[in-house]
Amino acid sequence: MKQKEARVASIAVLVSGGGTNLQALIDAQKRGELHSGRIRLVISNTKDAYALERARVAGIESAMVLKKELGSTEAFEGKIRSLLDEYHIDLIVLAGFMSILSADFTAAYPKRIINIHPSLIPSFCGKGYYGIHVHEAAMARGVRITGATVHYVNEIPDGGEIIMQKAVAVRHNDTPETLQKRVMRMAEWKILPAAVEKVSSRLVAEGTASENHQ
Ligand code: GRF
Repeated sequence: MKQKEARVASIAVLVSGGGTNLQALIDAQKRGELHSGRIRLVISNTKDAYALERARVAGIESAMVLKKELGSTEAFEGKIRSLLDEYHIDLIVLAGFMSILSADFTAAYPKRIINIHPSLIPSFCGKGYYGIHVHEAAMARGVRITGATVHYVNEIPDGGEIIMQKAVAVRHNDTPETLQKRVMRMAEWKILPAAVEKVSSRLVAEGTASENHQ
C-alpha cells in the first residue's frame, strides 16, 4: 500500500547579515531535526549578507530584496510577499533580519512569523535594542542572567507571544562581545531550530502546511 505522504511546512528565512542562525537551521535540517518543516527560500534585504553564501552552499534558493532599489516600504514588502506566495511559504523565520515589518505585513501572517531576539524578553527589547546594543544594555544594567527568546511577530517590535526562551549566565569578565557570542552559541542556535520545529508541527497538525514531503 502506498504510504500517505507527510505534509511539511514550507519555511522562508529572512536575513540581513552573517546568518549564523540560518546556519543553525540548515544544520538542524541536515541532522534530521526539522521533521515538520523544510527551508525553501532565503530572502536577504542586504547585498553582502554572508547568509546568502550559506544558502548557496546548502543548495537553498535565495533572493535579494533591496528597499533602496524598490523605493518604498510598500514596494519592498510587496516584493517579499510575492516571493512568499510564489514559494507557497507557510512559516516566515526572521533570523537577524534588520528591518521592522509593517503592521499590514504582520497582520497578513498571524502566528506565522517568528523572530529570534538576543535577550530574555521583556528585558532589553523593542526599538533600538538590536545586535550588540542588546548586550551592552544588559551589561550596563548589571544583570547576572540574560539569554535569548523566540517569539511570534506582530505589530509591536519584539512584542508578540513568546514561544521559547533560554537563559545564559553573565560572567564577571564578560564584554558585550563575549556575551553576544555565548548567547548565540548557548541559546540562539539551540532554541531557534527547536522553535521552528515546534511551530512547523503545529501548522502541520492544523492542516495549514501547504506541501508534501519529498
Ligand atoms: C542574532 O543575534 C539575532 O538574535 C539577532 O540578530 C543576530 C543575527 O545574527 N536578531 P546572524 O545573522 O544569525 O549571525
